[in-house]
Amino acid sequence: MSSLLEVRDACVRYPQRGGLFSRTLSYLEAVSDVSFSLEKGEILAIVGESGCGKSTLAQALVGLQPFASGKYFLNGKSVDLKSEKEWKSVRNSVQMIFQDPYSSLNPRQKVLDILSYPLRYRSFSEKECFKKAEEVLEKVGLPLVSLEKYPHEFSGGQRQRLGIARALMTNPEVLVCDEVTSALDVSVQAQVLKLLDTLRTDLNLAIIFISHDMQVVQTLADKVMVMYLGQSLEEGKVEDVFKNPLHPYTQALIQSVPTLEFGHPPEILSGEIVKSSLGCVFAPRCSLAKEICFSQRPNLNGEERKIRCLFVNQDA
Ligand SMILES: Nc1ncnc2c1ncn2[C@@H]1O[C@H](COP(=O)(O)OP(=O)(O)O)[C@@H](O)[C@H]1O
Ligand SMILES: [Mg+2]
Repeated sequence: MSSLLEVRDACVRYPQRGGLFSRTLSYLEAVSDVSFSLEKGEILAIVGESGCGKSTLAQALVGLQPFASGKYFLNGKSVDLKSEKEWKSVRNSVQMIFQDPYSSLNPRQKVLDILSYPLRYRSFSEKECFKKAEEVLEKVGLPLVSLEKYPHEFSGGQRQRLGIARALMTNPEVLVCDEVTSALDVSVQAQVLKLLDTLRTDLNLAIIFISHDMQVVQTLADKVMVMYLGQSLEEGKVEDVFKNPLHPYTQALIQSVPTLEFGHPPEILSGEIVKSSLGCVFAPRCSLAKEICFSQRPNLNGEERKIRCLFVNQDA
């Protein structure tokens, strides 16, 4: 049976401009050869240090950045990445929730208009928009009077609920959540995470959960993909990856989670993030790196558990 969402060998590039007419001089490959699949009701976490390409991948998944290459299947159907018409229908099914609940909602619009926007654009009547807006507000736990209010009348956590409500307006099957709790107070974070988990259960929603908080990932997600400089280095079920991280980078990431346990100071990843142009992207910081790691780029190997390393494999 086909997956709900499947992405194969996806690449996303940013043009690097310069010179007299701001010509494209080169490209920065922010996402290279990323592949994953997602089932209904499943939560896939994407983790990795800042700048590794998580947001770029998230934006590409909802059509806000073009894929330079790769394949994209939704419910087993291949999406033509160059076709605007096909992306339009993808956007109903794959919706994004942004990191910053303050800047992602238009301050001049009432909540009803904010929520209705994705439907108006799809030629729904005012009455239909209102009905759907009431329905989604209830799902995210906000009172119906919210419809007549402006974003500034809500707290950070409530605004993030509004962001989720807006994403739900088109009955999506996948929610892409990019660091959705990192701008919130710790006490509110837990409520928003609980809401996402409830929506996954009640609506059978699949969620791509981007986070740098390994503890949250461990409690919330089913699967995890570890990214480094645009590539995924390890993928697998959360319990397997956290119990037995195989890739040296995953091991370092998990060890760098601060712990209060006496006698176990966190080992922070050290060294500069530099890309080895030929070999493994992690080689310049890897404690296991040998000469060959700087000249030969490893493939992502394995089925359920995948690892990109010349020396470690999933049978380790
Ligand atoms: N709009 C952009 N134009 C050019 N480069 C960008 C743009 N957005 C991000 N980048 C670069 O792409 C890489 C990945 O960034 P990003 O996807 O934001 O990573 P993350 O979300 O993991 O922190 C970084 O090197 C970043 O500088
Ligand atoms: Mg980001």
